[in-house]
Amino acid sequence: MKNFTSVHDVSDINALVKIALDFKNDPFKSKQSGINKRIGLLFFNPSMRTRLSTQIAAQNLGMEAIVFNISHEGWTLEFEEEAIMSGTTVEHVKDAAPVLGKYFDVLGIRTFPSLKNREDDYSELYIKQFIKYSGIPIVSLESATLHPLQSLTDIITIQECRNRQPATGNRQPRIVLTWAPHVKPLPQCVANSFSQWINAWGVADFVITHPEEYELDEQFTKGATITNNQNEALKNADFVYVKNWSTYKDYGKIYCNDPGWMLTNEKLMITNNAKIMHCLPVRRNVELSDDILDGSHSIVTQQAANRVWAAQAVLSKILPPSPKGV
Ligand code: CP
Repeated sequence: MKNFTSVHDVSDINALVKIALDFKNDPFKSKQSGINKRIGLLFFNPSMRTRLSTQIAAQNLGMEAIVFNISHEGWTLEFEEEAIMSGTTVEHVKDAAPVLGKYFDVLGIRTFPSLKNREDDYSELYIKQFIKYSGIPIVSLESATLHPLQSLTDIITIQECRNRQPATGNRQPRIVLTWAPHVKPLPQCVANSFSQWINAWGVADFVITHPEEYELDEQFTKGATITNNQNEALKNADFVYVKNWSTYKDYGKIYCNDPGWMLTNEKLMITNNAKIMHCLPVRRNVELSDDILDGSHSIVTQQAANRVWAAQAVLSKILPPSPKGV
């Protein structure tokens, strides 16, 4: 694996899931593989789970992890080629990334979209420029359009539940991604990425449900059944993934914000005793009700805990054979 920025960097999803679950079983079995190797974790935006789980994963492999909250503590970077830097940007990524490439063996980057200009956000300029100029493997810790470590975690969690309780017999599990209300316009990353990974995984009856005007980019959703009827989607669902996203077409807006789209115990009755997933953080009683989050169907903590094993699996596959040794 050269970089980890989307499902396209993974040749065999099931093999990667198995590596992750093996690490969950025996966290320190590859403790020697990361000795004298170092990962830099660059955060342009806030994080709890991604930051901590990736640090723990690196340490489990014997690596050193250094966190850099670059948006608060670093120089403001310029990403545009041939920019005349007479404005607010202080250092070009062309100059900064090669330096980071000398300090670290692997670089993780979190960068959110602006939600102002769709073409800019969907060009993934930040991640692409770090890949171009750092000279070392890049791991996305969530980018403008995707969140691959989260999606790998989600599949690990679904597979883990299926291993424990193969309730669906021979039929494919029905996995439903449902839009939920929110007070702020949020990125489409988690929903895009979940759709991309579940479609690539190819083992599920995959349904996406959202109000009109919340269609996601077809490049990620193609292959799924898409409906504006949430109750219809939830029928016989085995897993329900709850997530808000802002509009894609008329970019970054909140249109409908009908609280009726919030999942409740009443709606759970329509499902096949479904497990409820959310990437967290979650706005209680806006996106998901207390009764769901505090009830026995919620697997959000298991899901977040699995972030460690997803990160560890990816780092174990991406680590270069010999350390940089600055
Ligand atoms: N799910 C997720 O990425 O959480 P953080 O934003 O806390 O890292």
